[in-house]
Amino acid sequence: MQAFDPSAYAGRKVLVTGGSSGIGLGIAKGFLRHGAEVHILGRSQEKLDAVREQPEGTLHGHSADVRDVDALQALAKELGTLDVLVNGAAGNFPVPFSLMSDNAWNSVIDIVLQGTVHTTRAFGQPMWDANDGQDRAILNIVAGYAWTGAPGVSHSGAAKAGVLNLSKSLAVEWAPRVRVNCVSPGPIGGTEGMKRLAEDLGLGDAVVRGIPAARMGTADDVAQASLFLCHPAASFVTGVVLPVDGGQDAVGPFGALFQGLSD
Ligand code: NAP
Ligand code: COA
Repeated sequence: MQAFDPSAYAGRKVLVTGGSSGIGLGIAKGFLRHGAEVHILGRSQEKLDAVREQPEGTLHGHSADVRDVDALQALAKELGTLDVLVNGAAGNFPVPFSLMSDNAWNSVIDIVLQGTVHTTRAFGQPMWDANDGQDRAILNIVAGYAWTGAPGVSHSGAAKAGVLNLSKSLAVEWAPRVRVNCVSPGPIGGTEGMKRLAEDLGLGDAVVRGIPAARMGTADDVAQASLFLCHPAASFVTGVVLPVDGGQDAVGPFGALFQGLSD
């Protein structure tokens, strides 16, 4: 089911970092389906090529690492001013803090937090500089553990918490020219993230039991929310986080007592 007109993004230019797989790919396909010119960024050219041709058109792939400031600045010059920037590129793996090497910590912080800063400077700053009255939007993909704690993935938790805080700061500093919001996916089935953090650990069923909606989400669930947050129809929405998590964040300490008892 689609909430938006198929031409909702006609004439708009979108870049999705991490758009070559998983949730980012789902979001990129959502924008493409609604008429946008869609660019995706990831390290692997092979992954970018594999998703390039879609039934609705082309996902223009750009091979770059979000840790490579020069490559991002060069791409920003090539693409010109964007209407929408989605920061989805990320790295994550489960490891207890006491067993985590410095380099393991740094790699996730460098990709998720620093990478978001680099892309925001390269692509977001020109959106602010344009100052032409157009509604422009940045959407950062975070996770529910950005505002709780992140046992087992403390590097990712710290990085996502940083991205969340940066999003709110920029929402204020860059209003009214650029809106900055976050989407916070719950467990999304079939993704690399869920493979690493749940399925490889035999925790897939346990994760689903903790979701009031009684299923994992899909990349398209996240895409639908993203389409709303980045559209001029949401021009008064900035500095928010929208969980797309089947109610997982609402459960709280007593939620388990009530789950499944309403019928
Ligand atoms: P995924 O399929 O592994 O997607 C990661 C994307 O980021 C890929 O396109 C990857 O392409 C790119 N990437 C990774 N490192 C990069 C780098 N250094 N520079 C540029 N691109 C890079 O993961 P996913 O599970 O769908 O997760 C996508 C996003 O959703 C992440 O921000 C994640 O934290 C968030 N999230 C996921 C879940 C979930 O259930 N999966 C839940 C909450 C939040 P290359 O490898 O080719 O670079
Ligand atoms: N457990 C413990 N440490 C790990 C690890 C794991 N599962 N995976 C990587 N590391 C450590 C490495 O050992 C290395 O530390 P060291 O030099 O002290 O040994 C450090 O992390 C960096 O690893 P490296 O492979 O050099 O980093 P990279 O920059 O090439 O890749 C990653 C980044 C590690 C995040 C890689 O998993 C990746 O590219 N992920 C993208 C996809 C993804 O994570 N998707 C899910 C998104 S939610």
